[in-house]
Amino acid sequence: LFAREATFMLGVAGLAQLPDTDVPEVCFAGRSNVGKSSLINAVTGRNTLARTSVTPGRTQELNFFNLADRLILADLPGYGFAKAPKDKVEAWTRTTMSYLRGRAQLRRVLVLVDSRHGLKDVDREVMRMLDQAAVNYQIVLTKIDKLKKGEAEKRQQETTTELLRHVAAHPEVILTSSEKGDGIAELRATLAALGLP
Ligand code: GTP
Ligand code: MG
Repeated sequence: LFAREATFMLGVAGLAQLPDTDVPEVCFAGRSNVGKSSLINAVTGRNTLARTSVTPGRTQELNFFNLADRLILADLPGYGFAKAPKDKVEAWTRTTMSYLRGRAQLRRVLVLVDSRHGLKDVDREVMRMLDQAAVNYQIVLTKIDKLKKGEAEKRQQETTTELLRHVAAHPEVILTSSEKGDGIAELRATLAALGLP
């Protein structure tokens, strides 16, 4: 799946412009600045495919990337705090939540969580929404290079335990570092299994 180059398809601000395809989709969701765009670059092996920034609120549209017509990856705007005008943040959050609930070809939502902070209430709200809509999701802990090994494993344990209460959650929590490459092979395998053969 990752042998050929991933290509940028389009960025959309509203649901009306969503790409109309039959290709399975996986999206990268999470609070602003957790590392969604960086992780897309890491799994596709292209450092400049998705735009990243130290400023929360970098990604302001839903951006779609095509992996050889077998899987589409969606980079979503972050939820929670962002350095952008309030009405703009509200608009993209509404679009993002509707997309998460209503996208027929969405095979899995990767909910990215900064491993230093763990799950926050806003993540729990999104997880409850996905539980209710019966949308399959999986937690990916990011930036584990910022933690000691023992701390990362402790965070993974604690997150796994909390998932027992969430019906639509995949039980496995993936540890990643886009910077150092940890967990990228595992994530690629997960994505390959969700795409067309
Ligand atoms: P928004 O689009 O604003 O919601 O952010 P995002 O979730 O797409 O985060 P982005 O990928 O833009 O990364 C945010 C910041 O975190 C950037 O400064 C990245 O360099 C940094 N970052 C992302 N992944 C990692 C990682 O694995 N390790 C470290 N140390 N920093 C990371
Ligand atoms: Mg982003």
